[in-house]
Amino acid sequence: MMKFGGTSVATLPRWQNIRELVASRRAEGARVLIVVSALTGITDALKQLCAEDDQDKRRACAEGIAQRHHELLGHMQLELPETLGERLAELERLAAEGPAVMGELAWQALVQAHGELMSSALGAAFLTHSDLPTRWLDARDCLDAAALPNQNERTRLLSAMVEAKPDPALATRLAALGEVFITQGFIARDADERTVLLGRGGSDTSASYFGALLKAARVEIWTDVAGMFTANPRQVPGARLLQKLDYEEAQEIASTGAKVLHPRCLSPLREPRVPLLVKDTNRPELDGTVIGPQLSEYAPSVKAISARKGITLVSMESVGMWQQVGFLADVFGEFKKHGLSVDLIGSAETNVTVSLDPTENLLDSDAIAALAGDLARVCRVKVIAPCAAITLVGRGMRSMLHLLSSVLAEFDQIRVHLISQSSNNLNLTFVVDEDVVDSLLPHLHELLIGAGALRTDDSALFGPSWQNLYGRGEAVAPAAAWWREAERQRLLEFGAQATPRYVYHLPTVRAQARKLKTLGAVDRLHYAVKANTHPAILRALAEEGFGFECVSPGELKAVQAAVPESAPLLFTSNFAPREDFVYAFSTRATVSLDALYPLEHWGDVFRGREIVLRVDLGRGLGHHEKVRTGGSGSKFGLPLEQLDTFLRLADAHGVTVRGLHAHLGSGILDDGHWAEVYGQLASLAERIGSVAFLDIGGGLGVPSHPGEAPLDVAALDRRLREVKAAYPHYQLWMEPGRYLVADAGVLLARVTQQKSKDTLRYLGLDTGMNSLIRPALYDAWHEIVNLSRLDEPGTTLYQVVGPICESGDVLGSDRRLPEAREGDVVLVAQAGAYGKVMASPYNLRDEALEIVIE
Ligand code: LLP
Repeated sequence: MMKFGGTSVATLPRWQNIRELVASRRAEGARVLIVVSALTGITDALKQLCAEDDQDKRRACAEGIAQRHHELLGHMQLELPETLGERLAELERLAAEGPAVMGELAWQALVQAHGELMSSALGAAFLTHSDLPTRWLDARDCLDAAALPNQNERTRLLSAMVEAKPDPALATRLAALGEVFITQGFIARDADERTVLLGRGGSDTSASYFGALLKAARVEIWTDVAGMFTANPRQVPGARLLQKLDYEEAQEIASTGAKVLHPRCLSPLREPRVPLLVKDTNRPELDGTVIGPQLSEYAPSVKAISARKGITLVSMESVGMWQQVGFLADVFGEFKKHGLSVDLIGSAETNVTVSLDPTENLLDSDAIAALAGDLARVCRVKVIAPCAAITLVGRGMRSMLHLLSSVLAEFDQIRVHLISQSSNNLNLTFVVDEDVVDSLLPHLHELLIGAGALRTDDSALFGPSWQNLYGRGEAVAPAAAWWREAERQRLLEFGAQATPRYVYHLPTVRAQARKLKTLGAVDRLHYAVKANTHPAILRALAEEGFGFECVSPGELKAVQAAVPESAPLLFTSNFAPREDFVYAFSTRATVSLDALYPLEHWGDVFRGREIVLRVDLGRGLGHHEKVRTGGSGSKFGLPLEQLDTFLRLADAHGVTVRGLHAHLGSGILDDGHWAEVYGQLASLAERIGSVAFLDIGGGLGVPSHPGEAPLDVAALDRRLREVKAAYPHYQLWMEPGRYLVADAGVLLARVTQQKSKDTLRYLGLDTGMNSLIRPALYDAWHEIVNLSRLDEPGTTLYQVVGPICESGDVLGSDRRLPEAREGDVVLVAQAGAYGKVMASPYNLRDEALEIVIE
């Protein structure tokens, strides 16, 4: 089954394209049934004809419509085929006759059906003439409209449904007649032999009905995009092509906003399990989206985020409703009476709020006012509009809730009117004010990827982004990792010698350092050495002019051993013992405090010193709650309400507050964050007087998931410069860790064993959480590749685990990798930051050695 829409059948080149596509299916040995829409604009012209009262005007309309078809025939250099001639004559007759004889609705249906009847007649002639003998089939002889309860005459004639059950007799009949057929979308016949229409999305639905009737090998919907995407590409250019969906997921995505497919067209295919393929007519080489039965070998993932605008909420409040029998029946009775279909429902003890979707309802203000008037008799009514429903779609939504914290956090600034979770576990919907949606959607899409909830790393499911497919070169190719090409061979050799091993690539450290050195607003950059204390890295960064931020005497000593005397040092400890401060002051380090206690109890250590005060700005940020270092629940920073006490104590001990410091967390990709911190610290500094510099911390993130956008360093600098212009009298300091070293390091391990258990495949490595604890501790996502088989396709969905006696010893879940063998060298990427420094001797397994390459 191949379905082509209005624009695909409107011109000669488009028909030549159809011919090629059908011929290629024939070459594969398939029999083909083509389903077509009317030429673009013709259905509207036919509706216009129906709306005219005047016979002459109707005739003129019919004339114009005939003209369009004659023109296309002319381009095709074809004589008027008999089938089309008959249709044109019939249309002229109907235009002349008007609705009086047949009845308004039946006449309208028959007139409008002519769009498809004509385009298909034209197509049959063209294809047959171009050596592809094609039989014209009247869809009405095959599709019988079902009589359904609750149908009125209008829906029966203009929005009919067909119960399409496999009909082997029809299949056999057609098989005897030929190989290629063409028929009409959008039309069927009812029990009274009248022509009826299938309503919106009718042509796609026809293709599905035929697919089910004939139990087709597949239904192909040819359109102008490659398929369904993870979000509306017009709003989210980074939206990814969904390559595989099951019927229910696709239906949910279609019903919650995607326009590519009409939701109606999926249900006929479910029972006969006929797959549906969405393809781009202009780019037939693209895989498109395949929709079929549920697939078991995939991890739960959010598949799409969609948005519907124009939603109206009706909030109904009544103290009497709690446990009152029949309250909901009364309320919903009113909706039924006004012909309004309810979509989402939220309920509380004294309130029920429902949403009305404009695509299912005729939502004019009169209808709503009339409803509200009637409802007011049983409860207090409030109508909230315009709203928008943002929906996350994916099978097994409830098992993904723990991944959604960053997404939910995004809603804290926004008014959320209603949250609803579908009982089929396929969607989670937030109703918000309509005007926030456009800016919110791209951001949420990015957060979903970052949180690993939209698992774009599974390339079997998620294809290229819309931007990559259709953008005009704006797409930024991800930086090629050093380990993938240039150093791969060397890494394989290291892996063959001994594993586990950390390998650090100094050119990457330098490149990252140079990117940060473009931050013109920043006066001094310090490397937060906790991320990686390898001496070669410390030296490389000292050469780049970095200072060093240390949190313990151990780190201070490591830096002093590796780099020259002159590099600036910071000592930014937290709950450190007295002797650490004594030691820090014996070095050249600038010391910070983030509590009253040291001044209250060890005043002598600080007497006459200049210090930095680390404050808590009341909020934290970062890739995981465990790395957020601000706000309630975090042990860092002096709460602002203690600032005056701190300053009094400092005064009493002759201590000068020379710097203010804040660090809110790690792994932040929002370029606006640091300017906010900067502004807040600057205005605090104005109150203190003695401050000379502001340290806005580190936390600069690097993208880990495919598709995540990197930090925009130029934008970050612009934002910082804006603040600097207002407060030029303070020096600006930063102290990044991860940004400098994360991508510069990889962990090499070797495959030990494999195991299948339940539905899962485990891939065992010779090291795990003992070498890299980030996945276990923060659910951190690290790319994992089988370096020995980098060029082989990913065929197996693995749980990549280590040898440690903990169930949490998982380096990566649900990774699609080539089938592995014992001894293969596996590489865990982005392990340069917080890798080796957080490793432990747990289980007394050998600790990973470190190698540095230039
Ligand atoms: N400054 C202070 C005061 C810090 O506490 C930290 C990190 C940094 C700077 C550097 O942050 P970075 O630029 O590296 O994000 N182990 C966690 C990260 C913990 C960060 C602790 N403090 C992880 O692996 O994600």
